[in-house]
Amino acid sequence: MFAMHGNKVVGVDINESVVATINRGQIHIEEPGLKTVVSAAIHSGNLRASTKPVKADVFILAVPTPFRQGKKADMSYVESAARAIVPHLRKGNLVILESTSPAGTTKDLILPILKESKLDVEKDLYVAHCPERVLPGRILEELIANDRIIGGINRESAEQAAALYRCFVTGNIFCTDATSAELSKLVENTYRDVNIALANELAVICEKLGVNVWDVINLANKHPRVNIHRPGPGVGGHCISVDPWFIVEDFPDDAKLIALARRRNDAMPHHVLQKMKTILEGVKNPRIAILGVAYKGNVDDTRESPSVEIIEQLVHGSALGKGVGKPRLTIYDPHVKHFDHELSAFEDAFRDADLIVLLTDHNEYRYLDPSSVGELVRSKQIFDTRNCLNREKWEKAGFTTHLIGDGQGKPAAGSKVPAIKPAKATKARK
Ligand SMILES: NC(=O)c1ccc[n+]([C@@H]2O[C@H](COP(=O)([O-])OP(=O)(O)OC[C@H]3O[C@@H](n4cnc5c(N)ncnc54)[C@H](O)[C@@H]3O)[C@@H](O)[C@H]2O)c1
Repeated sequence: MFAMHGNKVVGVDINESVVATINRGQIHIEEPGLKTVVSAAIHSGNLRASTKPVKADVFILAVPTPFRQGKKADMSYVESAARAIVPHLRKGNLVILESTSPAGTTKDLILPILKESKLDVEKDLYVAHCPERVLPGRILEELIANDRIIGGINRESAEQAAALYRCFVTGNIFCTDATSAELSKLVENTYRDVNIALANELAVICEKLGVNVWDVINLANKHPRVNIHRPGPGVGGHCISVDPWFIVEDFPDDAKLIALARRRNDAMPHHVLQKMKTILEGVKNPRIAILGVAYKGNVDDTRESPSVEIIEQLVHGSALGKGVGKPRLTIYDPHVKHFDHELSAFEDAFRDADLIVLLTDHNEYRYLDPSSVGELVRSKQIFDTRNCLNREKWEKAGFTTHLIGDGQGKPAAGSKVPAIKPAKATKARK
Protein backbone atom coordinates (compact mmCIF):
# COMPACT_ATOMS: atom_id res chain seq x y z
CA MET A 1 0.00 0.00 0.00
CA PHE A 2 2.83 2.43 0.82
CA ALA A 3 4.57 1.64 -2.48
CA MET A 4 1.34 2.09 -4.43
CA HIS A 5 0.98 5.54 -2.89
CA GLY A 6 4.25 6.99 -4.09
CA ASN A 7 6.70 5.83 -1.40
CA LYS A 8 9.93 3.94 -2.04
CA VAL A 9 9.62 0.75 0.03
CA VAL A 10 12.09 -2.00 0.92
CA GLY A 11 10.25 -5.02 2.32
CA VAL A 12 12.60 -6.88 4.64
CA ASP A 13 12.16 -10.54 5.52
CA ILE A 14 14.70 -13.00 6.96
CA ASN A 15 13.15 -15.72 4.81
CA GLU A 16 15.05 -15.75 1.49
CA SER A 17 12.30 -17.56 -0.35
CA VAL A 18 9.74 -14.88 0.66
CA VAL A 19 12.14 -12.17 -0.59
CA ALA A 20 12.73 -13.95 -3.91
CA THR A 21 8.98 -14.54 -4.41
CA ILE A 22 8.11 -10.88 -3.81
CA ASN A 23 10.93 -9.63 -6.04
CA ARG A 24 9.36 -11.73 -8.83
CA GLY A 25 6.12 -9.81 -8.25
CA GLN A 26 4.48 -12.86 -6.70
CA ILE A 27 3.11 -13.67 -3.23
CA HIS A 28 3.62 -16.52 -0.75
CA ILE A 29 0.29 -16.32 1.09
CA GLU A 30 -3.32 -16.57 -0.08
CA GLU A 31 -5.10 -13.21 -0.01
CA PRO A 32 -7.64 -11.86 -2.53
CA GLY A 33 -6.22 -9.07 -4.71
CA LEU A 34 -2.76 -9.11 -3.10
CA LYS A 35 -0.93 -10.63 -6.07
CA THR A 36 -2.11 -7.83 -8.38
CA VAL A 37 -1.04 -5.12 -5.94
CA VAL A 38 2.39 -6.66 -5.20
CA SER A 39 3.03 -7.26 -8.87
CA ALA A 40 2.09 -3.64 -9.74
CA ALA A 41 4.21 -2.27 -6.87
CA ILE A 42 7.27 -4.28 -7.99
CA HIS A 43 6.85 -3.25 -11.62
CA SER A 44 6.43 0.42 -10.62
CA GLY A 45 9.94 0.27 -9.14
CA ASN A 46 8.66 1.52 -5.76
CA LEU A 47 8.87 -1.87 -4.02
CA ARG A 48 11.73 -4.27 -3.63
CA ALA A 49 12.38 -6.97 -1.07
CA SER A 50 15.62 -7.70 0.75
CA THR A 51 16.87 -9.89 3.57
CA LYS A 52 18.64 -6.93 5.19
CA PRO A 53 17.32 -3.53 6.34
CA VAL A 54 18.73 -0.34 4.78
CA LYS A 55 18.79 3.31 5.81
CA ALA A 56 15.32 4.83 5.63
CA ASP A 57 13.09 7.62 6.93
CA VAL A 58 10.55 5.21 8.43
CA PHE A 59 10.95 1.69 9.86
CA ILE A 60 7.88 -0.48 10.39
CA LEU A 61 8.20 -3.67 12.43
CA ALA A 62 5.49 -6.19 11.52
CA VAL A 63 7.01 -9.50 12.58
CA PRO A 64 5.23 -12.42 14.29
CA THR A 65 4.32 -12.37 17.99
CA PRO A 66 3.22 -15.95 18.68
CA PHE A 67 3.20 -17.52 22.13
CA ARG A 68 5.78 -19.92 23.41
CA GLN A 69 5.30 -22.69 25.94
CA GLY A 70 3.22 -21.71 28.93
CA LYS A 71 1.16 -19.31 26.77
CA LYS A 72 3.74 -16.52 27.17
CA ALA A 73 4.35 -13.95 24.42
CA ASP A 74 7.36 -14.81 22.28
CA MET A 75 8.88 -11.39 21.63
CA SER A 76 12.11 -12.74 20.13
CA TYR A 77 11.09 -11.78 16.54
CA VAL A 78 10.28 -8.21 17.61
CA GLU A 79 13.55 -7.98 19.53
CA SER A 80 15.68 -9.19 16.65
CA ALA A 81 13.86 -7.02 14.07
CA ALA A 82 14.32 -3.95 16.32
CA ARG A 83 18.04 -4.78 16.76
CA ALA A 84 18.44 -5.17 12.99
CA ILE A 85 17.41 -1.55 12.35
CA VAL A 86 19.60 -0.01 15.10
CA PRO A 87 22.73 0.42 12.87
CA HIS A 88 20.60 2.25 10.27
CA LEU A 89 18.89 4.75 12.57
CA ARG A 90 19.42 8.50 12.08
CA LYS A 91 18.06 11.59 13.77
CA GLY A 92 14.47 12.30 12.68
CA ASN A 93 13.57 8.67 11.86
CA LEU A 94 10.12 7.32 12.64
CA VAL A 95 9.95 3.76 14.07
CA ILE A 96 6.56 2.02 14.18
CA LEU A 97 5.76 -1.29 15.87
CA GLU A 98 2.78 -2.91 14.11
CA SER A 99 3.05 -6.38 15.67
CA THR A 100 0.37 -7.16 18.25
CA SER A 101 2.28 -6.93 21.52
CA PRO A 102 1.77 -7.08 25.31
CA ALA A 103 0.90 -3.72 26.86
CA GLY A 104 4.09 -1.78 27.60
CA THR A 105 6.22 -3.32 24.80
CA THR A 106 7.02 -0.06 22.97
CA LYS A 107 8.15 1.63 26.17
CA ASP A 108 9.85 -1.29 27.92
CA LEU A 109 11.24 -3.38 25.04
CA ILE A 110 11.53 -1.24 21.89
CA LEU A 111 12.89 1.99 23.41
CA PRO A 112 15.77 0.29 25.31
CA ILE A 113 16.82 -1.48 22.07
CA LEU A 114 16.63 1.75 20.02
CA LYS A 115 18.80 3.44 22.70
CA GLU A 116 21.63 1.15 21.56
CA SER A 117 21.90 3.51 18.55
CA LYS A 118 23.25 6.16 20.98
CA LEU A 119 20.50 8.51 19.80
CA ASP A 120 18.29 10.23 22.36
CA VAL A 121 15.16 8.20 21.57
CA GLU A 122 12.76 10.74 23.06
CA LYS A 123 14.24 13.72 21.22
CA ASP A 124 15.93 12.33 18.09
CA LEU A 125 13.41 9.68 17.08
CA TYR A 126 9.65 9.39 16.66
CA VAL A 127 8.38 6.04 17.99
CA ALA A 128 4.82 4.71 17.84
CA HIS A 129 2.72 1.58 18.06
CA CYS A 130 0.15 1.18 15.30
CA PRO A 131 -1.60 -2.17 15.68
CA GLU A 132 -2.76 -4.04 12.59
CA ARG A 133 -6.49 -4.83 12.66
CA VAL A 134 -7.19 -6.33 9.25
CA LEU A 135 -9.27 -9.43 8.61
CA PRO A 136 -7.45 -12.09 6.55
CA GLY A 137 -9.47 -12.53 3.36
CA ARG A 138 -10.31 -8.79 3.26
CA ILE A 139 -6.91 -7.32 4.05
CA LEU A 140 -6.63 -4.89 1.13
CA GLU A 141 -10.07 -3.37 1.69
CA GLU A 142 -9.65 -3.15 5.45
CA LEU A 143 -6.14 -1.66 5.31
CA ILE A 144 -7.69 1.34 3.58
CA ALA A 145 -11.10 1.63 5.18
CA ASN A 146 -10.61 0.57 8.81
CA ASP A 147 -10.13 3.12 11.54
CA ARG A 148 -6.63 3.00 13.02
CA ILE A 149 -5.30 3.52 16.51
CA ILE A 150 -1.88 5.12 16.80
CA GLY A 151 -0.06 5.31 20.11
CA GLY A 152 3.06 7.43 20.32
CA ILE A 153 5.75 7.63 23.00
CA ASN A 154 4.86 11.34 22.78
CA ARG A 155 2.37 13.46 20.85
CA GLU A 156 4.77 14.29 17.98
CA SER A 157 5.47 10.58 17.41
CA ALA A 158 1.75 9.80 17.16
CA GLU A 159 1.20 12.71 14.76
CA GLN A 160 4.13 11.73 12.52
CA ALA A 161 2.83 8.15 12.30
CA ALA A 162 -0.74 9.34 11.65
CA ALA A 163 0.49 11.54 8.78
CA LEU A 164 2.27 8.54 7.25
CA TYR A 165 -0.79 6.24 7.29
CA ARG A 166 -3.02 9.00 5.91
CA CYS A 167 -1.40 8.46 2.50
CA PHE A 168 -3.79 5.52 1.99
CA VAL A 169 -6.05 5.14 5.06
CA THR A 170 -9.52 6.59 4.53
CA GLY A 171 -10.82 5.48 7.97
CA ASN A 172 -10.45 7.66 11.05
CA ILE A 173 -7.10 7.76 12.81
CA PHE A 174 -7.20 8.05 16.59
CA CYS A 175 -4.04 9.07 18.42
CA THR A 176 -3.18 7.98 21.94
CA ASP A 177 -0.20 6.81 24.00
CA ALA A 178 1.68 3.64 23.05
CA THR A 179 0.52 1.48 25.98
CA SER A 180 -3.17 2.35 25.45
CA ALA A 181 -2.80 1.47 21.74
CA GLU A 182 -1.17 -1.87 22.61
CA LEU A 183 -3.87 -2.74 25.12
CA SER A 184 -6.72 -1.61 22.84
CA LYS A 185 -5.57 -4.12 20.19
CA LEU A 186 -5.43 -6.94 22.75
CA VAL A 187 -8.85 -5.94 24.07
CA GLU A 188 -10.45 -6.08 20.58
CA ASN A 189 -9.47 -9.71 20.19
CA THR A 190 -10.17 -10.55 23.83
CA TYR A 191 -13.69 -9.17 23.50
CA ARG A 192 -14.30 -11.49 20.55
CA ASP A 193 -12.72 -14.48 22.29
CA VAL A 194 -14.84 -14.02 25.42
CA ASN A 195 -17.96 -13.57 23.28
CA ILE A 196 -17.22 -16.77 21.31
CA ALA A 197 -16.59 -18.59 24.62
CA LEU A 198 -20.10 -17.59 25.69
CA ALA A 199 -21.49 -18.93 22.40
CA ASN A 200 -19.54 -22.18 22.84
CA GLU A 201 -20.73 -22.57 26.42
CA LEU A 202 -24.32 -22.03 25.26
CA ALA A 203 -23.78 -24.65 22.51
CA VAL A 204 -22.85 -27.25 25.12
CA ILE A 205 -25.82 -26.25 27.31
CA CYS A 206 -28.27 -26.34 24.37
CA GLU A 207 -27.14 -29.83 23.40
CA LYS A 208 -27.94 -31.00 26.95
CA LEU A 209 -31.22 -29.13 26.92
CA GLY A 210 -32.27 -30.60 23.57
CA VAL A 211 -32.56 -27.23 21.79
CA ASN A 212 -30.69 -25.57 18.94
CA VAL A 213 -28.12 -22.95 20.00
CA TRP A 214 -28.20 -21.28 16.57
CA ASP A 215 -31.91 -20.54 17.00
CA VAL A 216 -31.39 -19.42 20.60
CA ILE A 217 -28.56 -17.02 19.69
CA ASN A 218 -30.48 -15.74 16.68
CA LEU A 219 -33.47 -14.97 18.91
CA ALA A 220 -31.35 -13.39 21.67
CA ASN A 221 -29.61 -11.23 19.05
CA LYS A 222 -32.99 -9.77 18.08
CA HIS A 223 -32.52 -7.66 21.22
CA PRO A 224 -31.08 -4.33 20.03
CA ARG A 225 -28.16 -4.44 22.45
CA VAL A 226 -27.21 -8.13 22.22
CA ASN A 227 -24.64 -9.50 19.75
CA ILE A 228 -23.59 -13.05 20.65
CA HIS A 229 -21.01 -14.51 18.24
CA ARG A 230 -21.04 -17.97 16.65
CA PRO A 231 -20.05 -21.21 18.37
CA GLY A 232 -17.73 -23.66 16.62
CA PRO A 233 -15.05 -26.33 17.01
CA GLY A 234 -12.71 -23.90 18.84
CA VAL A 235 -10.90 -20.66 18.12
CA GLY A 236 -7.79 -20.66 15.94
CA GLY A 237 -5.54 -18.25 14.10
CA HIS A 238 -2.60 -16.27 15.37
CA CYS A 239 -4.68 -13.40 16.80
CA ILE A 240 -7.86 -14.21 18.74
CA SER A 241 -6.56 -17.44 20.25
CA VAL A 242 -3.20 -15.88 21.19
CA ASP A 243 -3.66 -12.21 22.15
CA PRO A 244 -5.83 -12.73 25.28
CA TRP A 245 -2.93 -14.69 26.82
CA PHE A 246 -0.77 -11.53 26.58
CA ILE A 247 -3.10 -9.90 29.11
CA VAL A 248 -3.33 -13.03 31.29
CA GLU A 249 0.47 -13.31 31.33
CA ASP A 250 0.86 -9.82 32.81
CA PHE A 251 -2.17 -9.91 35.12
CA PRO A 252 -2.75 -13.54 36.15
CA ASP A 253 -4.62 -12.61 39.33
CA ASP A 254 -6.97 -10.17 37.64
CA ALA A 255 -7.60 -11.56 34.15
CA LYS A 256 -9.65 -14.52 35.45
CA LEU A 257 -12.59 -14.17 33.06
CA ILE A 258 -10.24 -13.82 30.08
CA ALA A 259 -8.33 -16.99 31.02
CA LEU A 260 -11.54 -18.93 31.60
CA ALA A 261 -12.89 -17.92 28.18
CA ARG A 262 -9.64 -19.05 26.55
CA ARG A 263 -9.95 -22.44 28.28
CA ARG A 264 -13.59 -22.78 27.24
CA ASN A 265 -12.62 -22.22 23.60
CA ASP A 266 -9.59 -24.51 23.88
CA ALA A 267 -11.90 -27.26 25.20
CA MET A 268 -14.10 -27.24 22.08
CA PRO A 269 -11.94 -29.69 20.04
CA HIS A 270 -12.47 -32.19 22.88
CA HIS A 271 -16.22 -31.54 22.71
CA VAL A 272 -16.19 -32.19 18.94
CA LEU A 273 -14.36 -35.49 19.54
CA GLN A 274 -16.92 -36.50 22.18
CA LYS A 275 -19.75 -35.87 19.70
CA MET A 276 -17.92 -37.85 17.02
CA LYS A 277 -17.54 -40.71 19.48
CA THR A 278 -21.32 -40.76 20.07
CA ILE A 279 -22.11 -40.62 16.34
CA LEU A 280 -19.67 -43.42 15.55
CA GLU A 281 -20.73 -45.75 18.38
CA GLY A 282 -20.58 -49.35 17.17
CA VAL A 283 -18.47 -48.61 14.04
CA LYS A 284 -15.07 -50.30 14.35
CA ASN A 285 -12.05 -48.41 12.96
CA PRO A 286 -14.23 -45.93 11.06
CA ARG A 287 -13.11 -44.00 8.03
CA ILE A 288 -13.50 -40.28 8.73
CA ALA A 289 -13.38 -37.51 6.14
CA ILE A 290 -12.20 -34.22 7.66
CA LEU A 291 -13.24 -31.09 5.75
CA GLY A 292 -10.97 -28.18 6.58
CA VAL A 293 -7.70 -27.63 8.39
CA ALA A 294 -7.48 -23.83 8.00
CA TYR A 295 -8.51 -22.02 11.18
CA LYS A 296 -11.34 -20.24 9.37
CA GLY A 297 -13.12 -20.19 6.03
CA ASN A 298 -11.47 -19.20 2.74
CA VAL A 299 -7.92 -18.76 4.07
CA ASP A 300 -4.89 -21.10 3.88
CA ASP A 301 -3.65 -20.42 7.41
CA THR A 302 -3.57 -23.38 9.84
CA ARG A 303 -1.93 -21.62 12.80
CA GLU A 304 -3.61 -22.62 16.09
CA SER A 305 -6.42 -24.21 14.07
CA PRO A 306 -8.77 -26.41 16.15
CA SER A 307 -8.59 -28.91 13.26
CA VAL A 308 -4.93 -29.54 14.10
CA GLU A 309 -5.79 -30.53 17.68
CA ILE A 310 -8.70 -32.71 16.54
CA ILE A 311 -6.62 -34.48 13.88
CA GLU A 312 -3.67 -35.00 16.27
CA GLN A 313 -6.00 -36.55 18.86
CA LEU A 314 -7.54 -38.84 16.24
CA VAL A 315 -4.19 -39.91 14.80
CA HIS A 316 -2.21 -40.37 18.01
CA GLY A 317 -4.70 -40.78 20.82
CA SER A 318 -7.61 -43.01 21.64
CA ALA A 319 -9.93 -40.04 21.28
CA LEU A 320 -12.91 -42.11 20.11
CA GLY A 321 -12.60 -44.73 22.84
CA LYS A 322 -11.77 -48.45 22.72
CA GLY A 323 -15.19 -49.39 21.31
CA VAL A 324 -14.61 -47.40 18.12
CA GLY A 325 -10.84 -47.81 17.95
CA LYS A 326 -8.35 -45.98 15.79
CA PRO A 327 -9.99 -44.26 12.81
CA ARG A 328 -8.59 -43.96 9.30
CA LEU A 329 -8.54 -40.31 8.29
CA THR A 330 -8.76 -38.51 5.01
CA ILE A 331 -8.33 -34.73 5.01
CA TYR A 332 -9.60 -32.38 2.33
CA ASP A 333 -8.85 -28.63 2.27
CA PRO A 334 -8.83 -26.86 -1.09
CA HIS A 335 -7.04 -23.79 0.34
CA VAL A 336 -4.18 -25.38 2.30
CA LYS A 337 -1.15 -26.59 0.32
CA HIS A 338 1.19 -27.67 3.13
CA PHE A 339 0.10 -29.61 6.19
CA ASP A 340 1.74 -32.06 8.61
CA HIS A 341 -0.64 -34.84 7.55
CA GLU A 342 -1.39 -36.01 4.02
CA LEU A 343 -4.11 -34.05 2.24
CA SER A 344 -6.46 -35.95 -0.08
CA ALA A 345 -7.94 -35.04 -3.43
CA PHE A 346 -11.68 -34.32 -3.50
CA GLU A 347 -13.07 -37.78 -4.37
CA ASP A 348 -10.48 -39.75 -2.36
CA ALA A 349 -11.42 -37.78 0.73
CA PHE A 350 -15.02 -39.00 0.72
CA ARG A 351 -14.55 -42.52 -0.60
CA ASP A 352 -15.94 -45.12 1.85
CA ALA A 353 -16.24 -42.58 4.66
CA ASP A 354 -18.34 -43.52 7.69
CA LEU A 355 -18.55 -39.91 8.82
CA ILE A 356 -17.82 -36.51 7.25
CA VAL A 357 -16.79 -33.84 9.75
CA LEU A 358 -16.81 -30.23 8.58
CA LEU A 359 -14.34 -28.18 10.64
CA THR A 360 -13.78 -25.08 8.45
CA ASP A 361 -16.42 -22.99 6.68
CA HIS A 362 -14.75 -22.73 3.26
CA ASN A 363 -17.20 -21.67 0.52
CA GLU A 364 -16.31 -24.80 -1.48
CA TYR A 365 -18.03 -26.96 1.17
CA ARG A 366 -21.26 -24.93 1.03
CA TYR A 367 -21.56 -25.81 -2.67
CA LEU A 368 -20.87 -29.54 -2.32
CA ASP A 369 -23.45 -31.69 -4.06
CA PRO A 370 -24.83 -34.06 -1.39
CA SER A 371 -26.00 -36.62 -3.99
CA SER A 372 -22.53 -36.97 -5.57
CA VAL A 373 -20.89 -37.12 -2.14
CA GLY A 374 -23.51 -39.69 -1.09
CA GLU A 375 -22.39 -42.00 -3.90
CA LEU A 376 -18.82 -42.00 -2.58
CA VAL A 377 -19.34 -42.56 1.15
CA ARG A 378 -20.08 -45.81 2.98
CA SER A 379 -22.37 -44.27 5.56
CA LYS A 380 -24.34 -41.07 5.04
CA GLN A 381 -23.42 -39.22 8.24
CA ILE A 382 -22.26 -35.63 8.31
CA PHE A 383 -21.28 -33.49 11.33
CA ASP A 384 -21.21 -29.73 10.75
CA THR A 385 -19.25 -27.82 13.43
CA ARG A 386 -19.72 -24.42 11.74
CA ASN A 387 -23.38 -24.34 10.69
CA CYS A 388 -22.13 -23.99 7.15
CA LEU A 389 -24.23 -26.57 5.32
CA ASN A 390 -27.79 -26.50 4.05
CA ARG A 391 -29.13 -29.25 6.29
CA GLU A 392 -32.35 -29.75 4.36
CA LYS A 393 -30.43 -30.41 1.14
CA TRP A 394 -28.18 -33.02 2.80
CA GLU A 395 -31.10 -34.72 4.54
CA LYS A 396 -33.02 -34.88 1.24
CA ALA A 397 -30.02 -36.76 -0.20
CA GLY A 398 -30.36 -39.33 2.61
CA PHE A 399 -27.76 -38.00 5.05
CA THR A 400 -28.16 -37.96 8.81
CA THR A 401 -26.95 -34.51 9.81
CA HIS A 402 -25.41 -33.48 13.12
CA LEU A 403 -24.83 -29.85 14.05
CA ILE A 404 -22.72 -28.50 16.88
CA GLY A 405 -24.95 -26.98 19.55
CA ASP A 406 -28.10 -28.70 18.33
CA GLY A 407 -29.74 -31.01 20.89
CA GLN A 408 -32.35 -31.97 18.23
CA GLY A 409 -35.21 -31.94 20.71
CA LYS A 410 -33.58 -34.71 22.78
CA PRO A 411 -32.43 -33.55 26.22
CA ALA A 412 -29.39 -35.39 27.58
CA ALA A 413 -29.99 -38.44 29.82
CA GLY A 414 -30.54 -37.31 33.41
CA SER A 415 -31.73 -33.86 32.34
CA LYS A 416 -34.91 -32.66 34.05
CA VAL A 417 -36.13 -31.05 30.85
CA PRO A 418 -38.79 -32.89 28.81
CA ALA A 419 -38.34 -33.46 25.07
CA ILE A 420 -39.48 -30.44 23.12
CA LYS A 421 -40.90 -29.86 19.68
CA PRO A 422 -39.17 -26.86 18.11
CA ALA A 423 -41.70 -24.02 18.05
CA LYS A 424 -42.37 -22.09 14.86
CA ALA A 425 -41.23 -18.45 14.99
CA THR A 426 -44.15 -16.09 15.36
CA LYS A 427 -44.25 -12.67 13.80
CA ALA A 428 -43.66 -9.84 16.27
CA ARG A 429 -46.69 -7.73 17.04
CA LYS A 430 -46.40 -4.10 16.03
N1 LIG B 1 -1.96 -11.06 9.36
C1 LIG B 1 -2.97 -10.44 9.94
O1 LIG B 1 -4.06 -10.45 9.45
C2 LIG B 1 -2.77 -9.69 11.24
C3 LIG B 1 -3.86 -9.01 11.80
C4 LIG B 1 -3.70 -8.33 12.99
C5 LIG B 1 -2.45 -8.34 13.61
N2 LIG B 1 -1.40 -9.02 13.04
C6 LIG B 1 -0.11 -9.00 13.74
O2 LIG B 1 0.92 -8.61 12.85
C7 LIG B 1 2.13 -9.31 13.18
C8 LIG B 1 2.65 -10.04 11.96
O3 LIG B 1 1.67 -10.98 11.56
P1 LIG B 1 1.77 -11.75 10.17
O4 LIG B 1 0.51 -12.48 9.98
O5 LIG B 1 2.24 -10.82 9.09
O6 LIG B 1 2.96 -12.73 10.52
P2 LIG B 1 3.62 -13.83 9.55
O7 LIG B 1 4.14 -14.86 10.47
O8 LIG B 1 2.68 -14.23 8.48
O9 LIG B 1 4.79 -13.08 8.79
C9 LIG B 1 5.80 -12.41 9.37
C10 LIG B 1 7.05 -12.46 8.49
O10 LIG B 1 8.05 -11.92 9.33
C11 LIG B 1 9.26 -12.55 8.96
N3 LIG B 1 10.23 -12.31 10.03
C12 LIG B 1 10.42 -12.96 11.20
N4 LIG B 1 11.41 -12.39 11.90
C13 LIG B 1 11.88 -11.38 11.15
C14 LIG B 1 12.92 -10.41 11.32
N5 LIG B 1 13.66 -10.39 12.43
N6 LIG B 1 13.14 -9.53 10.33
C15 LIG B 1 12.40 -9.55 9.22
N7 LIG B 1 11.42 -10.42 8.98
C16 LIG B 1 11.15 -11.32 9.94
C17 LIG B 1 8.87 -13.98 8.76
O11 LIG B 1 9.84 -14.66 7.97
C18 LIG B 1 7.50 -13.83 8.07
O12 LIG B 1 7.63 -13.90 6.67
C19 LIG B 1 1.80 -10.23 14.35
O13 LIG B 1 2.10 -9.58 15.56
C20 LIG B 1 0.30 -10.40 14.23
O14 LIG B 1 -0.31 -10.71 15.46
C21 LIG B 1 -1.54 -9.68 11.87
